Amino acid sequence: METLKQVTSLTRIVSNQKMSMLEIEQDVLLGQYTTLHIGGKAQYFTVAKAESDVSEIVTHAKSNSLPVTILGGGSNVLISDEGIAGLVVKNEIDGIEWSEEDGAVSVRAGSGVSFDLLVKDSVERGYWGMENLSLIPGSVGATPIQNVGAYGVEVKDLIKSVEAVSLVTGKTRVFSNQECQFGYRDSFFKTKEGRLFFVTAVTFLLQTEAEPRITYKDLSAHFAGQNNITVTEVRDAVVGIRSSKFPDWNDIGTAGSFFKNPIVEAEQAKLLEEKYPDIPMFDTPAGDVKVSLSWLLDKVLNLKGVQHGDVGLYEKHVLVLVNHGSATAMAVDKFADFVSEAVEKEVGVRPEREVTKLGK
Ligand code: EPU
Repeated sequence: METLKQVTSLTRIVSNQKMSMLEIEQDVLLGQYTTLHIGGKAQYFTVAKAESDVSEIVTHAKSNSLPVTILGGGSNVLISDEGIAGLVVKNEIDGIEWSEEDGAVSVRAGSGVSFDLLVKDSVERGYWGMENLSLIPGSVGATPIQNVGAYGVEVKDLIKSVEAVSLVTGKTRVFSNQECQFGYRDSFFKTKEGRLFFVTAVTFLLQTEAEPRITYKDLSAHFAGQNNITVTEVRDAVVGIRSSKFPDWNDIGTAGSFFKNPIVEAEQAKLLEEKYPDIPMFDTPAGDVKVSLSWLLDKVLNLKGVQHGDVGLYEKHVLVLVNHGSATAMAVDKFADFVSEAVEKEVGVRPEREVTKLGK
């Protein structure tokens, strides 16, 4: 068991002419690192604190033939009860660098930074752009992978570039916004090829000029008739709306929306609208239509607050799957399939999961 000995001890690795220590643990329970509070053990586990750690991790994993799984804020993953084979890397790459020149603001943040910490910092500095994305759990590095979005804004609207280290070559590559191939909760980093990159930093572009984006229903209702809206007011409104709909994951295990809103062709959308005249729908730039799964789950299937054992759909927002106690990944899987099948049977569309499954 030479490999085992090598990776379980404190491992000394020479990289870029400097000596450093990678601390690798064995059999670490992963549920503690996810907002669903679910997940078995990592075979091997380490923490990346800086980009230089990533190159070392790549070298180490390659020489020991270990697959690498990256964990950010753990807010959008379902880790299997059997855990994850290989090396799990908890991303804690830190650092926020602001720069402002001629009214153009950019910020480069380490991928392990809490995204909401960055949003809060940006709002406190009076910059516009990120405020609608307030209170989203998870880390900066997860935002381009998922193309995180809320209240009419997606990170694709703000991202200038993404830095990532190849898990194959150990080399850093800078992806432009276009190269990230953003879609609805989708990007290059979700593809087979893209999964072989470790996102280390993200650069966002913000602005100093006021530009409230409040056309999303909840926000337009909140600000009805109000002028001269400040960026702090938008953040406060979003925080208020989210807090009234989403559970605090410190109290109740959750990964936010568990499913994506289905995107259907215009023809199918027309049929759905005939059947359900009140269903909220949104045209996509590609000419398709995004239909509200929340509305269908709530108003058609009456699934708000439904619970099977410890797994359920939250009583204040039906798209939010919750772990009321000690649910297993298997129970979540089964329950999610029950929900998908109910939607497919009634509406003829099988919803895609937003949450990523990890592990054996
Ligand atoms: N609705 C119901 N019942 C509910 C909740 C919502 O009928 O329990 C209806 C309402 O008519 C409402 C509509 O569904 O107008 C849409 O609801 P909401 O505005 O909350 O948006 P959503 O489609 O359910 C999406 C994102 C959220 C994001 C919100 C706000 C996805 C998968 N989810 O939810 O993102 O915060 O919009 O922009 O696109 C996440 O991705 O994890 C997430 C929380």
